[in-house]
Amino acid sequence: MPRSRIDLGKETGVPNYEEHILVVDDEPNIRKLLAGVLQDEGFEVSTAADTAAAQALLASRPVDLMLLDVQLPDQDGLSFLRKLQAGDTAPPVIMMSGHGTIANAVEATHLGALDFIEKPIQAGRLLVSVANGLNLKRLRSENADLRTALNLTGDLLGSSSAMAQLRDQIAQAAPTDARILITGENGTGKELVARALHKASLRSARPFIKVNCAAIPSELLESELFGHERGAFTGAVARRLGKFERAQGGSLLLDEIGDMNPTTQAKLLRVLEESELERVGGSSPIAIDVRVFASTNRDLDRLRADGGFREDLYHRLMVVPLRAPALRDHRTDVPELAAHFLHHFCAGSGRPSKTLTEEALALLQAYRWPGNVRELKNLMERIMIMVPATTVTDDDLRCLLTGFDSDTVSGDLTGDGQSLATLLAQEEKRLIEEAVDRADGNLAAAARELGLDRANLHRRLKRLNLKRGD
Ligand SMILES: Nc1ncnc2c1ncn2[C@@H]1O[C@H](COP(=O)(O)OP(=O)(O)OP(=O)(O)O)[C@@H](O)[C@H]1O
Ligand SMILES: [Mg+2]
Repeated sequence: MPRSRIDLGKETGVPNYEEHILVVDDEPNIRKLLAGVLQDEGFEVSTAADTAAAQALLASRPVDLMLLDVQLPDQDGLSFLRKLQAGDTAPPVIMMSGHGTIANAVEATHLGALDFIEKPIQAGRLLVSVANGLNLKRLRSENADLRTALNLTGDLLGSSSAMAQLRDQIAQAAPTDARILITGENGTGKELVARALHKASLRSARPFIKVNCAAIPSELLESELFGHERGAFTGAVARRLGKFERAQGGSLLLDEIGDMNPTTQAKLLRVLEESELERVGGSSPIAIDVRVFASTNRDLDRLRADGGFREDLYHRLMVVPLRAPALRDHRTDVPELAAHFLHHFCAGSGRPSKTLTEEALALLQAYRWPGNVRELKNLMERIMIMVPATTVTDDDLRCLLTGFDSDTVSGDLTGDGQSLATLLAQEEKRLIEEAVDRADGNLAAAARELGLDRANLHRRLKRLNLKRGD
């Protein structure tokens, strides 16, 4: 489709998709006029006659920019704007009015509107304002992406041999175009591995795009991956590029691939075999140059055996298999990771750094970490918030954990997994029992040996349900 598109200052390499603009005006003629002007520029336009319809549309799909009339039948535009800005998903808004008063314009700006244009609307004026609004929207979302990337493209830390081996494998596989299947439990850093592969690849200047196959309803996943043409299905009001096309020249991470439904698996297989795709409802093939990474925490062997995952697709995806190790299999990295995250969170919130005592570290190292590195990271953030002192002791860990339901603290527990709170309680119980034994049941002596005052020991005995020595 030829476009007389206004220059939106897009850098090359940024995927070019159609921005979606919502026009809210009660006059059918104005809706038609504005929609026409904007569609001619290649934008996707939806319209609404009142704020209720606008609200419904905003709730059903992302809007990049909204043109909002001041006078609407069900609610005035300014109150609607105020409500929108109170939420956190408000798109940039340009107000329109037939009887623009300075007071309205000032109030609209105070409420966060980007611009205020008067009717009759001139196309040139409208398009400049729209271009500015979309630029802002894009800057905001690039900013958010950068923040995520900063948080996630942090290096893979850990000096253990398990992590050194993983880094070596990444360095070997990255510069090729091989598809890579990354497996590992929750929170082991699979996404970080995929980003590290992309960063070290020849595609690093091109986009890295991620799709979570488990989070998207299966009936929408195909259009999310491969895009769709206008009218492909009810609600497909315009052409939409899929994640594959947005990753053109770069890499695509198919996260939670084990949850992909069979129909999409079949379509994905064809795309991987032919390096081309057809958008849903489309008829001409589009050449695709995208390196695919897939990741899963599910047991694909079992899924394949049960027929839940296609054998042929598995072999296509698993040219190079990488496994992110469970944290309990590289416990020696716990002190380094803990110190790193603790420093990261303290510095990030402008607080002085904290250190963990040897005893505290020993406890953390003994723990099973069912939620892996993510669980450790979350615990360090909690410590940053809850422990005021700069030295964090094993007692601090105990205090921090007793206030919580142990399951929340340690994430989902599986198999022989114990929560950190349970582990700490057991350790504490063992130490106290041994001291009381050695003191032949004399609590004053046991307390002295443990470095506690008597009242403190009594409290602990009660909490741990221990007999008072006999
Ligand atoms: N080796 C590591 N060094 C530094 N940070 C790590 C490491 N492993 C994981 N992380 C951090 O832990 C968090 C979880 O990592 P990530 O999201 O990559 O895990 P995942 O395996 O994809 O998890 P899930 O299966 O839940 O999707 C992230 O914040 C990541 O930065
Ligand atoms: Mg992940």
